[in-house]
Amino acid sequence: MANFSGKKAIVLGGTSGIGLATTEMLRDAGAEVIAGSRRECAIDGVECVQVDVLDRAALGELFEKNDGFDYLVNAATGGARAIGPFLQMDLDGYQNSFAKLWGYVNSVRLGVPRMSPGGAVVLFSGYPARKFRPGTIAIGSVGGSVEAFIHLVANEITPVRINGVCPGLIDTPMSPLQGDERREYYGKGTAEHLIARAGTAEECAGAAIFLLENEFVTGTIVDVDGGAIVT
Ligand SMILES: NC(=O)c1ccc[n+]([C@@H]2O[C@H](COP(=O)([O-])OP(=O)(O)OC[C@H]3O[C@@H](n4cnc5c(N)ncnc54)[C@H](OP(=O)(O)O)[C@@H]3O)[C@@H](O)[C@H]2O)c1
Repeated sequence: MANFSGKKAIVLGGTSGIGLATTEMLRDAGAEVIAGSRRECAIDGVECVQVDVLDRAALGELFEKNDGFDYLVNAATGGARAIGPFLQMDLDGYQNSFAKLWGYVNSVRLGVPRMSPGGAVVLFSGYPARKFRPGTIAIGSVGGSVEAFIHLVANEITPVRINGVCPGLIDTPMSPLQGDERREYYGKGTAEHLIARAGTAEECAGAAIFLLENEFVTGTIVDVDGGAIVT
């Protein structure tokens, strides 16, 4: 098991789903963890802060207050996402889907100068970036831009490392569906995948922990998708 004692981590979007699972794993591995998102939250052994990743002034203050921190994880979805056929898509909705990218870019731009030299960043893309699925052109473009950002910016922020996790279809509160509808959504969505089930938040968080811990990895993406991309 990873040992992060003596390390300080900020997890944005750290109050739900994959971000929350990462918050809890970091805490359990001994890190001092600050979980940030727009909601009020209470997580045992974790400092919760209310912050919007699109609010640069608030983010800047958070990083300044925690100057010298070691790990930045950003799993914030940022805002609403546009789903549906591209030729019928509302273009404001498409454009607004990029809130996720802007939240990530804000946090790396403002956070990295405040991080320790041995620090590491983890962001989350998403398998529609490299696998066509009807209705996902907007979120696929956002995921692709997140991955390009990681590959490229790694060169300019070294020795701080940056990597991404690319989740497949993961069972998290991102989907509001309940009961049979929920089971059907994840069942149908993964039926063709090599591992025909939705992933768990913990399976994705485990990849983030690996990327924070392994000091020989930067500028890359780990797919945690049940083989969705290669299917
Ligand atoms: N679940 C999947 O199937 C899947 C698939 C591919 C990619 N991903 C990616 O994986 C990452 C995590 O997804 P998830 O499923 O864990 O989502 P989730 O359960 O909906 O959690 C999203 C988190 O982001 C926070 N957030 C959203 N907008 C924010 C903002 N403007 N400022 C600060 N915090 C904000 C939310 O808290 P507040 O609402 O309180 O702010 C929440 O803590 C996302 O990048 C998502 O696109 C997920």
